Amino acid sequence: MQPLRAVKGMNDLLPEEMPRWHRVEETFLRLSRRYGYAEVRTPIVEPTQLFVRSIGEVTDIVEKEMYTFVDKGEQSLTLRPEGTASTVRAYVQHTVYAREAVTKWIYLGPMYRRERPAKGRYRQFYQLGAEIYGDPGPFVDAEIIEMLVAFLRELGVKDVEVLVNSLGGPETRPRYRAALVDYFDPHRGELCADCQRRLDVNPLRVLDCKVERDAKIAAGAPEILDFLGDEDRTHFEGLQAALDALEVPYAVDPRIVRGLDYYTRTLFEVKGRGGQLGAQDTICGGGRYDLLVEELGGPATPAIGFAIGVERLLMVMEDEARPAAVDAFVVAAGEPLRTEAAVLLRDLRAAGITADADLRGTSVKSQMRRADRSGARVALIVGEAEHARGVVQARDLAGKEQHEVARGEVVAHVRRRLERQA
Ligand code: HAM
Repeated sequence: MQPLRAVKGMNDLLPEEMPRWHRVEETFLRLSRRYGYAEVRTPIVEPTQLFVRSIGEVTDIVEKEMYTFVDKGEQSLTLRPEGTASTVRAYVQHTVYAREAVTKWIYLGPMYRRERPAKGRYRQFYQLGAEIYGDPGPFVDAEIIEMLVAFLRELGVKDVEVLVNSLGGPETRPRYRAALVDYFDPHRGELCADCQRRLDVNPLRVLDCKVERDAKIAAGAPEILDFLGDEDRTHFEGLQAALDALEVPYAVDPRIVRGLDYYTRTLFEVKGRGGQLGAQDTICGGGRYDLLVEELGGPATPAIGFAIGVERLLMVMEDEARPAAVDAFVVAAGEPLRTEAAVLLRDLRAAGITADADLRGTSVKSQMRRADRSGARVALIVGEAEHARGVVQARDLAGKEQHEVARGEVVAHVRRRLERQA
Protein backbone atom coordinates (compact mmCIF):
# COMPACT_ATOMS: atom_id res chain seq x y z
CA MET A 1 0.00 0.00 0.00
CA GLN A 2 1.18 3.53 -0.75
CA PRO A 3 1.95 5.19 2.58
CA LEU A 4 -0.30 8.18 3.23
CA ARG A 5 1.21 11.64 3.33
CA ALA A 6 0.34 14.81 5.22
CA VAL A 7 -2.01 17.28 3.50
CA LYS A 8 -0.22 19.53 0.99
CA GLY A 9 1.05 22.70 2.65
CA MET A 10 0.72 21.22 6.15
CA ASN A 11 3.94 20.23 7.85
CA ASP A 12 5.04 17.78 10.50
CA LEU A 13 7.31 19.28 13.13
CA LEU A 14 9.77 16.57 14.06
CA PRO A 15 11.44 16.42 17.48
CA GLU A 16 14.77 17.77 16.22
CA GLU A 17 13.04 21.01 15.20
CA MET A 18 11.21 21.50 18.48
CA PRO A 19 13.95 23.08 20.65
CA ARG A 20 13.84 26.19 18.43
CA TRP A 21 10.02 26.27 18.54
CA HIS A 22 10.09 25.93 22.31
CA ARG A 23 12.59 28.74 22.59
CA VAL A 24 10.34 31.03 20.51
CA GLU A 25 7.18 30.09 22.40
CA GLU A 26 8.76 30.24 25.85
CA THR A 27 10.37 33.61 25.12
CA PHE A 28 7.03 34.97 23.88
CA LEU A 29 5.14 33.71 26.95
CA ARG A 30 7.77 35.06 29.35
CA LEU A 31 8.18 38.43 27.67
CA SER A 32 4.45 39.08 27.20
CA ARG A 33 3.86 38.35 30.90
CA ARG A 34 6.39 41.07 31.65
CA TYR A 35 4.20 43.48 29.64
CA GLY A 36 1.01 42.47 31.49
CA TYR A 37 -0.55 40.00 29.03
CA ALA A 38 -2.44 36.80 29.85
CA GLU A 39 -2.86 33.86 27.50
CA VAL A 40 -6.16 32.92 25.86
CA ARG A 41 -6.93 29.75 23.89
CA THR A 42 -9.89 29.61 21.54
CA PRO A 43 -11.17 26.78 19.30
CA ILE A 44 -9.53 26.11 15.95
CA VAL A 45 -12.98 25.97 14.33
CA GLU A 46 -15.45 28.87 14.40
CA PRO A 47 -18.75 29.73 12.71
CA THR A 48 -17.89 30.86 9.16
CA GLN A 49 -19.78 34.13 9.63
CA LEU A 50 -17.27 35.26 12.26
CA PHE A 51 -14.50 35.49 9.66
CA VAL A 52 -16.73 36.81 6.88
CA ARG A 53 -17.91 39.66 9.10
CA SER A 54 -14.54 40.56 10.60
CA ILE A 55 -11.90 39.90 7.90
CA GLY A 56 -14.33 41.12 5.24
CA GLU A 57 -16.25 39.51 2.42
CA VAL A 58 -14.10 41.03 -0.33
CA THR A 59 -10.68 39.85 0.87
CA ASP A 60 -8.43 37.10 -0.47
CA ILE A 61 -8.72 35.19 2.79
CA VAL A 62 -12.52 35.04 2.78
CA GLU A 63 -12.99 34.75 -0.98
CA LYS A 64 -10.35 32.15 -1.72
CA GLU A 65 -8.46 30.77 1.23
CA MET A 66 -10.78 29.49 3.92
CA TYR A 67 -11.28 25.82 4.79
CA THR A 68 -15.05 25.86 5.16
CA PHE A 69 -17.38 22.90 5.62
CA VAL A 70 -20.92 22.23 6.70
CA ASP A 71 -20.98 20.36 9.98
CA LYS A 72 -23.33 17.39 9.40
CA GLY A 73 -25.82 19.51 7.50
CA GLU A 74 -26.22 21.95 10.36
CA GLN A 75 -23.86 24.92 10.45
CA SER A 76 -21.13 26.31 8.21
CA LEU A 77 -17.82 26.14 10.07
CA THR A 78 -14.33 27.34 9.13
CA LEU A 79 -10.83 26.45 10.29
CA ARG A 80 -9.55 29.75 11.67
CA PRO A 81 -7.41 31.62 9.14
CA GLU A 82 -6.15 34.00 11.86
CA GLY A 83 -6.62 34.68 15.56
CA THR A 84 -8.00 38.20 15.93
CA ALA A 85 -11.61 37.40 15.03
CA SER A 86 -11.71 34.50 17.49
CA THR A 87 -10.23 36.49 20.37
CA VAL A 88 -12.73 39.32 19.79
CA ARG A 89 -15.53 36.75 19.71
CA ALA A 90 -14.33 35.32 23.04
CA TYR A 91 -13.87 38.81 24.54
CA VAL A 92 -17.47 39.71 23.66
CA GLN A 93 -18.98 36.30 24.50
CA HIS A 94 -17.50 36.30 28.00
CA THR A 95 -18.28 40.02 28.59
CA VAL A 96 -14.67 40.58 29.58
CA TYR A 97 -15.19 44.33 28.97
CA ALA A 98 -17.53 44.42 31.97
CA ARG A 99 -14.74 43.24 34.28
CA GLU A 100 -11.65 44.94 32.89
CA ALA A 101 -11.11 48.45 31.51
CA VAL A 102 -8.12 47.24 29.51
CA THR A 103 -7.53 43.62 28.49
CA LYS A 104 -4.22 42.30 27.15
CA TRP A 105 -4.27 38.84 25.62
CA ILE A 106 -1.73 36.73 23.81
CA TYR A 107 -2.31 33.47 21.96
CA LEU A 108 -0.41 30.95 19.93
CA GLY A 109 -1.45 28.14 17.68
CA PRO A 110 -2.05 26.89 14.16
CA MET A 111 -3.97 28.89 11.52
CA TYR A 112 -5.27 27.64 8.16
CA ARG A 113 -5.31 29.31 4.77
CA ARG A 114 -5.66 27.53 1.46
CA GLU A 115 -2.91 29.52 -0.25
CA ARG A 116 -0.56 28.22 -2.90
CA PRO A 117 2.24 26.57 -0.90
CA ALA A 118 5.67 28.19 -1.34
CA LYS A 119 8.73 28.93 0.75
CA GLY A 120 7.39 30.61 3.91
CA ARG A 121 3.77 30.11 2.81
CA TYR A 122 1.85 27.13 4.12
CA ARG A 123 -1.73 25.99 4.48
CA GLN A 124 -1.26 25.30 8.16
CA PHE A 125 1.07 27.73 9.88
CA TYR A 126 1.56 28.95 13.42
CA GLN A 127 1.03 32.41 14.78
CA LEU A 128 2.01 34.11 18.00
CA GLY A 129 -0.46 36.93 18.57
CA ALA A 130 -1.13 39.77 20.98
CA GLU A 131 -4.30 41.85 21.28
CA ILE A 132 -5.20 44.79 23.54
CA TYR A 133 -8.81 45.86 24.12
CA GLY A 134 -10.00 49.11 25.67
CA ASP A 135 -7.09 51.49 25.03
CA PRO A 136 -7.41 53.98 22.15
CA GLY A 137 -3.66 54.69 22.01
CA PRO A 138 -1.41 56.04 20.71
CA PHE A 139 0.94 55.13 23.63
CA VAL A 140 -0.26 51.56 23.72
CA ASP A 141 0.30 51.33 19.94
CA ALA A 142 3.93 52.24 20.54
CA GLU A 143 4.15 49.85 23.50
CA ILE A 144 2.92 46.86 21.50
CA ILE A 145 5.43 47.62 18.72
CA GLU A 146 8.17 48.06 21.33
CA MET A 147 7.32 44.64 22.80
CA LEU A 148 7.49 43.11 19.33
CA VAL A 149 10.93 44.61 18.75
CA ALA A 150 12.12 43.50 22.21
CA PHE A 151 10.91 39.98 21.44
CA LEU A 152 12.81 39.82 18.16
CA ARG A 153 15.90 41.24 19.82
CA GLU A 154 15.75 38.65 22.58
CA LEU A 155 15.70 35.93 19.93
CA GLY A 156 18.74 37.45 18.24
CA VAL A 157 16.83 38.47 15.09
CA LYS A 158 18.61 41.48 13.63
CA ASP A 159 18.00 41.82 9.94
CA VAL A 160 14.44 43.18 10.10
CA GLU A 161 12.69 46.48 9.63
CA VAL A 162 9.60 47.86 11.30
CA LEU A 163 7.22 49.75 9.02
CA VAL A 164 4.28 51.83 10.25
CA ASN A 165 1.38 53.56 8.56
CA SER A 166 -2.05 54.91 9.40
CA LEU A 167 -5.24 53.95 7.61
CA GLY A 168 -7.27 56.62 9.36
CA GLY A 169 -10.73 56.07 10.73
CA PRO A 170 -14.27 57.00 9.74
CA GLU A 171 -13.32 60.67 9.23
CA THR A 172 -10.63 59.75 6.70
CA ARG A 173 -11.73 56.62 4.90
CA PRO A 174 -14.68 57.87 2.77
CA ARG A 175 -12.49 60.64 1.31
CA TYR A 176 -9.63 58.26 0.60
CA ARG A 177 -11.97 55.73 -0.90
CA ALA A 178 -13.37 58.35 -3.27
CA ALA A 179 -9.83 59.38 -4.27
CA LEU A 180 -8.94 55.75 -5.02
CA VAL A 181 -12.02 55.26 -7.18
CA ASP A 182 -11.15 58.49 -9.08
CA TYR A 183 -7.61 57.24 -9.63
CA PHE A 184 -8.37 53.64 -10.62
CA ASP A 185 -11.49 54.24 -12.68
CA PRO A 186 -9.65 55.30 -15.87
CA HIS A 187 -7.54 52.09 -15.54
CA ARG A 188 -10.53 49.87 -14.88
CA GLY A 189 -10.12 47.86 -18.08
CA GLU A 190 -6.46 47.09 -17.32
CA LEU A 191 -7.14 45.69 -13.85
CA CYS A 192 -7.65 41.98 -13.17
CA ALA A 193 -11.22 40.74 -12.96
CA ASP A 194 -11.02 40.57 -9.15
CA CYS A 195 -9.88 44.19 -8.90
CA GLN A 196 -12.59 45.44 -11.25
CA ARG A 197 -15.08 44.04 -8.75
CA ARG A 198 -13.04 45.21 -5.74
CA LEU A 199 -13.03 48.73 -7.13
CA ASP A 200 -16.80 48.91 -6.70
CA VAL A 201 -17.07 47.17 -3.35
CA ASN A 202 -13.77 47.74 -1.54
CA PRO A 203 -11.23 49.85 -3.51
CA LEU A 204 -8.63 49.62 -0.72
CA ARG A 205 -8.14 45.96 -1.63
CA VAL A 206 -6.94 46.93 -5.12
CA LEU A 207 -3.85 48.32 -3.38
CA ASP A 208 -2.67 44.92 -2.14
CA CYS A 209 -3.49 42.93 -5.27
CA LYS A 210 -0.65 40.55 -6.08
CA VAL A 211 -1.15 40.63 -9.87
CA GLU A 212 1.92 42.37 -11.31
CA ARG A 213 0.11 44.71 -13.69
CA ASP A 214 -2.34 45.77 -10.98
CA ALA A 215 0.52 46.36 -8.55
CA LYS A 216 2.19 48.63 -11.12
CA ILE A 217 -0.97 50.70 -11.52
CA ALA A 218 -1.45 50.76 -7.73
CA ALA A 219 2.06 52.17 -7.30
CA GLY A 220 0.84 55.52 -8.64
CA ALA A 221 -2.30 55.66 -6.47
CA PRO A 222 -2.85 58.50 -3.96
CA GLU A 223 -1.42 57.83 -0.50
CA ILE A 224 -3.58 57.55 2.58
CA LEU A 225 -1.36 59.84 4.66
CA ASP A 226 -2.34 62.80 2.45
CA PHE A 227 -5.97 62.25 3.40
CA LEU A 228 -5.78 61.81 7.17
CA GLY A 229 -8.30 63.92 9.08
CA ASP A 230 -7.06 66.00 12.04
CA GLU A 231 -7.73 63.43 14.76
CA ASP A 232 -6.26 60.58 12.76
CA ARG A 233 -3.20 62.69 12.01
CA THR A 234 -2.73 63.62 15.68
CA HIS A 235 -2.99 59.95 16.60
CA PHE A 236 -0.38 58.95 14.02
CA GLU A 237 1.98 61.73 15.11
CA GLY A 238 1.48 60.64 18.73
CA LEU A 239 2.48 57.08 17.78
CA GLN A 240 5.65 58.28 16.07
CA ALA A 241 6.61 60.54 18.99
CA ALA A 242 6.12 57.64 21.42
CA LEU A 243 8.17 55.27 19.24
CA ASP A 244 10.94 57.88 19.12
CA ALA A 245 10.84 58.24 22.92
CA LEU A 246 11.06 54.46 23.33
CA GLU A 247 13.94 54.40 20.84
CA VAL A 248 12.20 51.92 18.56
CA PRO A 249 13.70 52.03 15.06
CA TYR A 250 10.97 52.25 12.40
CA ALA A 251 10.14 53.77 9.04
CA VAL A 252 6.85 55.21 7.81
CA ASP A 253 5.60 53.30 4.76
CA PRO A 254 2.40 54.82 3.34
CA ARG A 255 2.01 51.80 1.01
CA ILE A 256 1.12 49.37 3.78
CA VAL A 257 -2.59 48.60 3.68
CA ARG A 258 -2.72 44.95 4.92
CA GLY A 259 -5.14 42.38 3.56
CA LEU A 260 -7.84 42.36 6.24
CA ASP A 261 -10.79 44.76 6.37
CA TYR A 262 -11.02 45.39 10.11
CA TYR A 263 -8.13 47.83 10.42
CA THR A 264 -8.41 51.49 11.40
CA ARG A 265 -5.61 53.98 12.08
CA THR A 266 -2.27 52.38 13.10
CA LEU A 267 -0.88 49.65 10.84
CA PHE A 268 2.52 48.01 11.14
CA GLU A 269 4.59 45.22 9.68
CA VAL A 270 7.97 43.65 10.35
CA LYS A 271 9.83 42.55 7.25
CA GLY A 272 12.98 40.45 6.92
CA ARG A 273 15.83 42.18 5.14
CA GLY A 274 18.40 39.42 4.84
CA GLY A 275 16.83 37.65 1.85
CA GLN A 276 16.28 34.36 3.77
CA LEU A 277 12.53 34.72 3.34
CA GLY A 278 12.25 35.16 -0.42
CA ALA A 279 8.94 36.66 -1.56
CA GLN A 280 7.16 35.94 1.74
CA ASP A 281 9.16 38.48 3.68
CA THR A 282 6.56 39.72 6.17
CA ILE A 283 7.25 38.13 9.55
CA CYS A 284 4.64 40.05 11.46
CA GLY A 285 1.59 42.14 10.70
CA GLY A 286 -0.67 44.12 12.97
CA GLY A 287 -2.73 47.18 13.56
CA ARG A 288 -5.60 48.89 15.26
CA TYR A 289 -9.19 47.76 14.74
CA ASP A 290 -11.30 50.17 16.73
CA LEU A 291 -14.66 49.19 15.21
CA LEU A 292 -14.50 45.39 15.28
CA VAL A 293 -15.59 44.69 18.86
CA GLU A 294 -18.79 46.67 18.28
CA GLU A 295 -19.34 45.07 14.86
CA LEU A 296 -19.20 41.66 16.53
CA GLY A 297 -21.84 42.59 19.08
CA GLY A 298 -19.83 44.12 21.94
CA PRO A 299 -19.73 47.71 23.18
CA ALA A 300 -17.63 50.26 21.26
CA THR A 301 -14.09 49.25 22.31
CA PRO A 302 -10.82 50.35 20.72
CA ALA A 303 -8.37 47.53 20.02
CA ILE A 304 -4.94 46.82 18.57
CA GLY A 305 -2.87 43.70 17.98
CA PHE A 306 -0.36 41.80 15.89
CA ALA A 307 0.47 38.27 14.78
CA ILE A 308 3.88 36.80 14.04
CA GLY A 309 4.26 33.88 11.63
CA VAL A 310 6.41 31.39 13.54
CA GLU A 311 7.76 29.51 10.51
CA ARG A 312 8.95 32.78 8.96
CA LEU A 313 10.42 33.92 12.26
CA LEU A 314 12.41 30.68 12.50
CA MET A 315 13.78 31.29 9.02
CA VAL A 316 15.45 34.53 10.13
CA MET A 317 16.51 33.26 13.55
CA GLU A 318 20.08 32.14 13.88
CA ASP A 319 20.81 28.50 14.57
CA GLU A 320 22.24 27.56 17.88
CA ALA A 321 23.71 24.49 19.49
CA ARG A 322 21.06 21.87 20.02
CA PRO A 323 20.60 20.95 23.67
CA ALA A 324 21.31 17.33 24.61
CA ALA A 325 18.30 15.05 24.90
CA VAL A 326 19.23 13.99 28.45
CA ASP A 327 21.87 14.72 31.11
CA ALA A 328 22.31 11.19 32.42
CA PHE A 329 22.01 7.76 30.83
CA VAL A 330 21.59 4.67 32.98
CA VAL A 331 23.13 1.41 31.80
CA ALA A 332 22.15 -1.98 33.18
CA ALA A 333 25.13 -4.34 32.99
CA GLY A 334 23.17 -7.56 32.84
CA GLU A 335 19.49 -8.41 32.60
CA PRO A 336 18.73 -8.93 36.30
CA LEU A 337 19.88 -5.37 36.95
CA ARG A 338 17.20 -3.79 34.83
CA THR A 339 14.97 -3.30 37.86
CA GLU A 340 17.79 -1.53 39.74
CA ALA A 341 18.38 0.64 36.70
CA ALA A 342 14.67 1.51 36.49
CA VAL A 343 14.64 2.52 40.17
CA LEU A 344 17.77 4.68 39.71
CA LEU A 345 16.13 6.34 36.69
CA ARG A 346 13.05 7.16 38.73
CA ASP A 347 15.21 8.67 41.51
CA LEU A 348 17.15 10.84 39.05
CA ARG A 349 14.01 12.11 37.38
CA ALA A 350 12.31 12.74 40.73
CA ALA A 351 15.32 14.90 41.60
CA GLY A 352 14.77 16.96 38.45
CA ILE A 353 17.57 15.43 36.36
CA THR A 354 16.71 14.51 32.77
CA ALA A 355 17.65 10.87 32.37
CA ASP A 356 17.00 7.91 30.13
CA ALA A 357 18.05 4.30 29.63
CA ASP A 358 17.65 1.46 27.19
CA LEU A 359 16.08 -1.37 29.16
CA ARG A 360 15.17 -3.66 26.29
CA GLY A 361 17.83 -6.10 27.44
CA THR A 362 20.53 -5.27 24.89
CA SER A 363 24.29 -5.64 25.51
CA VAL A 364 26.28 -3.17 27.63
CA LYS A 365 28.16 -2.15 24.51
CA SER A 366 24.99 -1.25 22.67
CA GLN A 367 23.63 0.59 25.72
CA MET A 368 26.88 2.59 25.95
CA ARG A 369 26.48 3.51 22.28
CA ARG A 370 22.98 4.79 23.00
CA ALA A 371 24.40 6.72 25.98
CA ASP A 372 26.99 8.40 23.73
CA ARG A 373 24.42 9.25 21.10
CA SER A 374 21.99 10.69 23.64
CA GLY A 375 24.39 13.55 24.32
CA ALA A 376 24.30 12.76 28.06
CA ARG A 377 27.20 14.01 30.14
CA VAL A 378 27.31 11.05 32.43
CA ALA A 379 26.54 7.33 32.12
CA LEU A 380 25.57 5.52 35.31
CA ILE A 381 26.46 1.85 35.03
CA VAL A 382 24.68 -0.52 37.35
CA GLY A 383 26.77 -3.76 37.54
CA GLU A 384 26.34 -6.98 39.51
CA ALA A 385 29.35 -6.62 41.80
CA GLU A 386 28.74 -2.90 42.25
CA HIS A 387 25.12 -3.49 43.10
CA ALA A 388 26.13 -5.98 45.77
CA ARG A 389 28.42 -3.33 47.28
CA GLY A 390 25.77 -0.55 47.02
CA VAL A 391 27.63 1.53 44.41
CA VAL A 392 27.36 2.44 40.71
CA GLN A 393 30.01 3.42 38.15
CA ALA A 394 29.66 7.01 37.01
CA ARG A 395 31.36 7.53 33.67
CA ASP A 396 32.06 10.99 32.29
CA LEU A 397 31.11 10.59 28.64
CA ALA A 398 33.23 13.50 27.40
CA GLY A 399 36.34 13.02 29.56
CA LYS A 400 35.93 9.23 29.73
CA GLU A 401 37.08 9.00 33.34
CA GLN A 402 35.06 6.80 35.67
CA HIS A 403 34.32 6.90 39.40
CA GLU A 404 32.61 4.61 41.80
CA VAL A 405 29.80 6.44 43.59
CA ALA A 406 27.73 5.24 46.55
CA ARG A 407 24.13 4.55 45.44
CA GLY A 408 22.81 7.13 47.90
CA GLU A 409 25.19 9.77 46.50
CA VAL A 410 24.38 9.34 42.82
CA VAL A 411 21.92 12.22 42.50
CA ALA A 412 24.28 14.65 44.26
CA HIS A 413 27.19 13.40 42.16
CA VAL A 414 25.32 13.95 38.85
CA ARG A 415 24.23 17.40 39.99
CA ARG A 416 27.82 18.39 40.79
CA ARG A 417 28.96 17.06 37.44
CA LEU A 418 26.30 19.05 35.58
CA GLU A 419 27.07 22.23 37.50
CA ARG A 420 30.76 21.92 36.80
CA GLN A 421 30.16 21.58 33.07
CA ALA A 422 27.37 24.16 32.78
P1 HAM B 1 -1.65 38.51 8.68
O1 HAM B 1 -0.79 39.55 8.09
O2 HAM B 1 -2.67 37.90 7.81
O3 HAM B 1 -2.33 39.17 9.96
O4 HAM B 1 -0.74 37.35 9.26
C1 HAM B 1 0.29 37.62 10.20
C2 HAM B 1 1.52 36.81 9.88
O5 HAM B 1 1.20 35.43 9.77
C3 HAM B 1 2.17 37.13 8.56
O6 HAM B 1 3.01 38.27 8.67
C4 HAM B 1 2.98 35.88 8.30
O7 HAM B 1 4.20 35.89 9.02
C5 HAM B 1 2.10 34.81 8.88
N1 HAM B 1 1.37 34.13 7.79
C6 HAM B 1 0.22 34.53 7.18
N2 HAM B 1 -0.15 33.65 6.24
C7 HAM B 1 0.78 32.67 6.22
C8 HAM B 1 0.98 31.48 5.46
N3 HAM B 1 0.10 31.07 4.54
N4 HAM B 1 2.07 30.72 5.73
C9 HAM B 1 2.97 31.08 6.67
N5 HAM B 1 2.83 32.20 7.43
C10 HAM B 1 1.76 32.98 7.21
C11 HAM B 1 -3.19 38.52 10.79
O8 HAM B 1 -3.37 37.34 10.78
C12 HAM B 1 -3.82 39.43 11.82
N6 HAM B 1 -4.72 38.61 12.66
C13 HAM B 1 -2.78 40.13 12.66
C14 HAM B 1 -3.40 41.01 13.70
C15 HAM B 1 -3.58 40.71 15.00
N7 HAM B 1 -3.90 42.22 13.49
C16 HAM B 1 -4.38 42.69 14.63
N8 HAM B 1 -4.21 41.76 15.57
